[in-house]
Amino acid sequence: MTLVDTEARTRIATDLTTNLFVEAGAGTGKTQSLVNRILGLVTTGTFPNGIADLAAITFTENAAAELRNRVRQQLDRAVADPALAADERMRFRAALASLDDASLSTLHGFALRLLSDFTLEADLPLGFTVQDDIRAGLARDLWWARSVDAALADPALAAVWTTCLALELTPRALRVIADRMQADWDQLESMVVARPAVPLWDMPAVVGPLREAVSRYADVGPEGDPLTAYLRGPLPTLLDDLDAEPDDLGRASVLLNQAIKTGCGNRAAWLKTGTPKSGPVNLLVQADSAWQAQLSAVRTACTEQLVRWLRDAVLDDAARRQTEGSLHFHDLLVLARRLLQKPQVREALHHRWPVIMVDEFQDTDPLQVEIVHLLASATFPDSWQECDAAGGRLFFVGDPKQSIYRFRRADVELYNAVRETIAVRPQLVQNFRSRPGILRVVNHSLRKLMDGKPGQVPYAELMAAREEVPGDKGPNVLLLGKGHATDMAGVRQEEAAHVATICRQAAGHWTVRDGRLAACAAGGAHRPA
Ligand SMILES: Nc1ncnc2c1ncn2[C@@H]1O[C@H](COP(=O)(O)OP(=O)(O)OP(=O)(O)O)[C@@H](O)[C@H]1O
Ligand SMILES: [Mg+2]
Repeated sequence: MTLVDTEARTRIATDLTTNLFVEAGAGTGKTQSLVNRILGLVTTGTFPNGIADLAAITFTENAAAELRNRVRQQLDRAVADPALAADERMRFRAALASLDDASLSTLHGFALRLLSDFTLEADLPLGFTVQDDIRAGLARDLWWARSVDAALADPALAAVWTTCLALELTPRALRVIADRMQADWDQLESMVVARPAVPLWDMPAVVGPLREAVSRYADVGPEGDPLTAYLRGPLPTLLDDLDAEPDDLGRASVLLNQAIKTGCGNRAAWLKTGTPKSGPVNLLVQADSAWQAQLSAVRTACTEQLVRWLRDAVLDDAARRQTEGSLHFHDLLVLARRLLQKPQVREALHHRWPVIMVDEFQDTDPLQVEIVHLLASATFPDSWQECDAAGGRLFFVGDPKQSIYRFRRADVELYNAVRETIAVRPQLVQNFRSRPGILRVVNHSLRKLMDGKPGQVPYAELMAAREEVPGDKGPNVLLLGKGHATDMAGVRQEEAAHVATICRQAAGHWTVRDGRLAACAAGGAHRPA
């Protein structure tokens, strides 16, 4: 196997005093290059305290377990490698023995470690716990029920609630906002929410034109025309309903449920009567515009008042969790970032973690960017952009094309901004995971889809590192799904049948790679399926 990017791979494993940013496509060995760099750090004795100095952060628990496995396997191999010098083997053995002290984990796991090491400084009680998602969800439901009860009974919010409920802005609708706020509560502290007074209704501006439309045009409109019918029937009824209400809020509630019609009527028929349709229609539009503008202003003011209440309630709840030491996952990140804003703690943690590596960086949370840069910076930075990390402290790996966690705050813009701060960016282009035929299909399809539109991640061709398997009868890519089922259960059944048929065709005929055979440097020998 000839590699065109050997130089980049070698630099990653050996240039240990330069900060690097590796951006490359799927299966190009990004994670492996991170492992190789860790081995480089071990073998050169760069870690002052051995591998316990290492903080490698990845995105999911599975990826963290896989990373730890890979490092352990490579260390095992190195310890047993007779070609290595005795002192090198000794360093690998020491690394293997203290691998559990290294931090190879998710960002949340890493944050938990920081908080556990500096619990009191983080203003947490000793023995604090982290709730799993199910418990955290139940705790949030309880918090919500209690908060709504308290807010409904709060005299300062009474008028706002009355208006909201009349306008069908219910606590249930607010729950969506509450959940978003809970998920991103770190951003609430700096959020400025205006508190506009709820404007008074101006019902004459709505009712006046409606009355005029009826009085001037109901009798002169053409017979059998829908607009005439509206002016003679539903509109006077609406006006009666509005008159029957004791106050403006009642009238608003009536209007909310009976839209003002502005678009009916036959133009030609009205013209024949000598009265253009625009006469009544303009009045109806005038009334409707006045109503919509008021509704929108009142709703906005009410929502902002409630959002302000919500923000305080969410922040109070976060403070309570911290005091009680009963944290949710996201709290770990916020509190770790806060902990790092204490200069003495940051200084200690800066020395504790001399090397920070991040895999799957395309899915970074903004707090991850801050935590990593606060830790790595030589001097205390006001923002992550001011980080002045010494060479070799930072190593990022990512593939923006694989960014899939937008709902968990991943943001490609932020990824790009961090990438631009790191001058040296080795490029890996060869893919080890897939055979050439698969990559041809992938390249062909993605080249067309990723056409460089603004905001889109650029297309990057994947080159096969694996070679064609001579005599292989298997197809590169098979399309499934030519079924007839119309319901989900049927689709699943057909899919299972298709897969079973393909397995039967493949067995003994197609050629597969088997890593366990490990007969060649390409990562394993081939055998019949
Ligand atoms: N230099 C190499 N030589 C041979 N095989 C390699 C090499 N580097 C990585 N591989 C193999 O290629 C496969 C993909 O590697 P790896 O998981 O590191 O890629 P990746 O770029 O991190 O993938 P992803 O985009 O999914 O994160 C693995 O099976 C790995 O063992
Ligand atoms: Mg990877």
